[in-house]
Amino acid sequence: MNKKPKHVAIIMDGNGRWAKKQGKNRFIGHQKGAKVVKDIVEEATKNEINFLTLFAFSTDNWSRPKDEINLLMKLLVGSLKKEFNRIFDNNIRLCSVGNLNTLPDIVKEELLFVIEKTKTNTGMVLTLALNYGGKEEIIDAIKAISNKVKNSIISPEKVDESTIIEHLYTRNLPPVDLLIRTSGEERISNFLLWHIAYAELYFTKTLWPDFKKKDLREALLNYSKRERRFGKTSEQLIT
Ligand code: FPP
Repeated sequence: MNKKPKHVAIIMDGNGRWAKKQGKNRFIGHQKGAKVVKDIVEEATKNEINFLTLFAFSTDNWSRPKDEINLLMKLLVGSLKKEFNRIFDNNIRLCSVGNLNTLPDIVKEELLFVIEKTKTNTGMVLTLALNYGGKEEIIDAIKAISNKVKNSIISPEKVDESTIIEHLYTRNLPPVDLLIRTSGEERISNFLLWHIAYAELYFTKTLWPDFKKKDLREALLNYSKRERRFGKTSEQLIT
């Protein structure tokens, strides 16, 4: 494979439909989904992906039934506890994007513990988007920049792309090269709006709980065959 994405982002969708198809409770779908996360992180590491960003809980997910939200939070804490050693031993650095303030304390504590313990790891950066919304991220950046303009820390004429990036939650992440969404839905759903500006989009009908290591390899292979022109012509890319 000649072209490898540096940053892969995934919208893990279809847990509920997977469970429904089997006549099971949605919770079972999320549980299976969490197991798939482990496999996909493993495979991404093996394929030397530098950055993997997973949409684990969106700002819109608060409108789900309370029981389901509680289960998702418990699954997150359980997975972080269970997988800590594996994350650490694989030299993975855990990060998060989104507003952690309104997450339950137990989630915040566990997350911050793993983030702190892995902060000097030099392998893949695994970012969990939690209580994350792309529009909210941009609004918060605009607020922070406006304040600096008001206090004469930044002059309005100097505001450019890098000013915006420096104020995003995702400021430490490179642009997304490949965005994968499972379950057949073909939309962005407020994920990483700024960072996906030039991302290659890959939609698969496979539901997240069925997404296997080979499916990630297939997405990477598909990506490797694409021509990314960034506004140029094919001929310009050769020269
Ligand atoms: C979408 O399926 C998935 C989510 C809302 C959350 C993703 C969570 C996991 C994969 C489990 C735990 C995560 C980690 C990081 C350990 P859906 O419920 O929207 O499915 P549906 O559209 O079929 O109803």
